Amino acid sequence: MSQFVPDSGRNTIPRILEQSSNGKILTAVTAYDFTSALLIDQTDIDIVLIGDSVASVIQGRGNTLPVTLDEMIYHSKCVARGISKALLVCDLPFLSYQVSPEEALRSAGRVFKESEVHAVKLEGGKVMADTVRYITERDMPVMGHIGLTPQSYHRMGGHRIQGKSAKYGVTSAEELVEDALTLQDAGVFSVVLEGIPSELAARITEMLDIPTIGIGAGSECSGQILVLHDLLGLSQGTPPKFVRRFAELGQESVSALNEYVKAVSEKTFPSASESYSASSHKMPRIKAVS
Ligand code: KIV
Repeated sequence: MSQFVPDSGRNTIPRILEQSSNGKILTAVTAYDFTSALLIDQTDIDIVLIGDSVASVIQGRGNTLPVTLDEMIYHSKCVARGISKALLVCDLPFLSYQVSPEEALRSAGRVFKESEVHAVKLEGGKVMADTVRYITERDMPVMGHIGLTPQSYHRMGGHRIQGKSAKYGVTSAEELVEDALTLQDAGVFSVVLEGIPSELAARITEMLDIPTIGIGAGSECSGQILVLHDLLGLSQGTPPKFVRRFAELGQESVSALNEYVKAVSEKTFPSASESYSASSHKMPRIKAVS
């Protein structure tokens, strides 16, 4: 017996592609946990990426290489519980997809089976085309990612802008154009363009039929993505030039914590209204510990 599942209002890949082709500028943001997901769910963000940037943002690592597939699945599950509208994409972490298309399929399959995401993202251009084709032909949607690919940290010698003059560790503009076209042909439904000149991102966006999602790639992409902690002003240190901090929640958090320390030290917290009294409340029974 078949069951009719009503439209939940959830963003699907066909819906996103249709909206983008009708001129909608797509909005995307990263998330790693349930609380942030609940906040994002109160907005009209189109795509939520469980990014492998979790390695630096949440785990305090120097780059994205150490995060594991199990950890990505764990964070995807946490985020998925809080998101009811946006399309969910999970990054395939370093070494979970580079060895062979078969291994990549198994990694992607685990993500789809164990967490409730709608697509996976992987980094790399032409070299990943067979892998992308292998996964997408088996009905697992893939988002591409080219330009400044953080998993290429050692090849690039750090997080360096790509698509400018061809220097060691820098992919040329022509190679990136070819990468984008090859990925589209291999079946990605969209592609992240990270850390490349605006003119190049505009050219790639113009050439592709699928949407481009830019980060540090100028305003002419089909959509934009930022790391949540960067846009909320929770990240420490000087952010890269392309980051706009739409709030200063980091500073607000430090002030709140200092207020807390002061209130506790001065015994103004907890107040009477924040405490239980023996007369008005039944005291919780304290169990004897044997
Ligand atoms: O991991 C990540 O955060 C990303 C970006 C595109 C923001 O891949």
